[in-house]
Amino acid sequence: MNTVMELIAAELKKAFTDCGYDESYAKVTVSNRPDLCEYQCNGAMAAAKSYRKAPFVIADEVAGRLADNTMFETIESVKPGFINITIGREFLAEYLDKMAAADKFGYSLNEEPKTVIVDFGGANAAKPLHVGHLRSAVIGESVKRINKYVGNNVIGDVHLGDWGLQMGLIIEELRDRKPELPYFDDSFEGEYPKEAPFTISELEEIYPAASAKSKEDEAFAKRAHTATLKLQSKDPACTAVWKHIMAVSKQDLKKNYDNLNVSFDLWKGESDAQVYIPDMVQKMIDDGIAYESQGAMVVDIQEETDSKELPPCIVRKSDGAALYATSDLATLVEREKDFHPDSYIYLADKRQELHFTQVFRVAKKAGIVKPDADMTFLGFGTMNGKDGKPFKTRSGGVMRLESLILEIEEAVYNKITQNRSMTEEEAKATAKIVGLAALKYGDLSNQASKDYVFDIERFSSFEGNTGPYILYTIVRIKSILNKYKENGGTMDNLSVNAAGSAGEKNLSLALTKFADMIESAYAEKAPHKVCQYIYEVSNAFNGFYHDTKILSESSESLKKGYIALINLTKAILEQCIELLAIECPERM
Ligand code: ARG
Repeated sequence: MNTVMELIAAELKKAFTDCGYDESYAKVTVSNRPDLCEYQCNGAMAAAKSYRKAPFVIADEVAGRLADNTMFETIESVKPGFINITIGREFLAEYLDKMAAADKFGYSLNEEPKTVIVDFGGANAAKPLHVGHLRSAVIGESVKRINKYVGNNVIGDVHLGDWGLQMGLIIEELRDRKPELPYFDDSFEGEYPKEAPFTISELEEIYPAASAKSKEDEAFAKRAHTATLKLQSKDPACTAVWKHIMAVSKQDLKKNYDNLNVSFDLWKGESDAQVYIPDMVQKMIDDGIAYESQGAMVVDIQEETDSKELPPCIVRKSDGAALYATSDLATLVEREKDFHPDSYIYLADKRQELHFTQVFRVAKKAGIVKPDADMTFLGFGTMNGKDGKPFKTRSGGVMRLESLILEIEEAVYNKITQNRSMTEEEAKATAKIVGLAALKYGDLSNQASKDYVFDIERFSSFEGNTGPYILYTIVRIKSILNKYKENGGTMDNLSVNAAGSAGEKNLSLALTKFADMIESAYAEKAPHKVCQYIYEVSNAFNGFYHDTKILSESSESLKKGYIALINLTKAILEQCIELLAIECPERM
């Protein structure tokens, strides 16, 4: 379906041409003076120069041509040469009916679908998920869903950090705690136990303890480093412990991601890429891309147009240990082989910018991906506390994701139980859904690259640009529709009214912008565009609701038109929150 903007542009093109001007001047934008008009065309201003005429004369001619066109309620030239447009009400109603009947409300992708890899989540095995990982999961899930929605073939990969020093630390800490285990008996020759020698809570406690110890105890730090190298060179005992760590940790991570309503098509990790490293690095050496520097192998990435100096990318350390960048490069080798992706989107803290610049450039230079491969690093900002510093627990520690979720659930629970009568059970279940929505919306409504302040009070408020406000709007519509049906109303043959009030027209117009919004949220990989739109639609709905008696309207046909309009509003809002991986309760 063409967007309203495209339809207006088509009419304007005809009018410009009919009046003897080039159609390229017929550009339409959403009005930046909504008090004066809904759309505008400033083409006459530009045309004036080429045609040596006063802009107003051109605008007047063009607008005059379209005076009787039913697509417009008004189309006027105003000095010095703008064309101000408001949309015809019949036209608008018909357009909305078409949207309601169309697949994806009339949105369609205007390019061939692509295969897209979204690398997000990025949890580190055996370390608890903390709020730093929240953004990656929440934004990545939405970017993934937006890409799926437009019709791309999307593969989401959690890309676990499962091959680093944390493994050596855990192995050595375990040795100190349980030296009797067979993994630490060099003469052991049997089969290692199937059962993990720790539970997830033990594991969660082991890592921070080991990490702290390594900072104080140099010998321990050395042992951990050696154990990591041994694991990376396939030592059977270290590998056996590693497998236990992975199994226990993955199970827990899955649970956590499930709770966030975040899912992955692939559960690959850095470890899966290791087999590709030797050949990959050798080829870089053979091709003369990688060279030796202080015992390490490095690749230059500096380009002429860079404004600052960028350090070379180390692809092999002098001790042969795997590096973060090497793993990411080898992962690309694997992904190219398995999926031939058209594009890559990576989510990580924006402080990892240099890392991704290095990886992308080396990958192109080494021919791992095509020279013009479409690779995006979507670096996100930090979630800060009200003091403007990275968010911490009350006692100053790093906040665990689970605790954070509990805190916001509690805030929402208190709000719900203050104002409404609900059974304890329902209030709890509702608080879970709404709390998560508050958290996600609070995050997603900001441009991803920006830092933002985590403010429980504001995020859980039922007013303003918040998750609860949006959900409350949807719940309100659901309740009106339910009452309508209870009173015998039918949902057959719904058709929107030619808008009467300003509120009705405003809501109608907002709904028509769905496809434009999807287009820009997709092109810019920007979930906050979905949030902006949801907020606009919700406000428009609440404005309409405020000044319209929907269910008590005496004219049946008017009432049914209202129902058609709010039913479409609900469908669009529900689709939008799904793109953000936010759910809506039945009541709240
Ligand atoms: N595990 C990393 C971290 O916690 C994030 C991984 C991001 N993805 C990637 N392909 N490097 O910082």
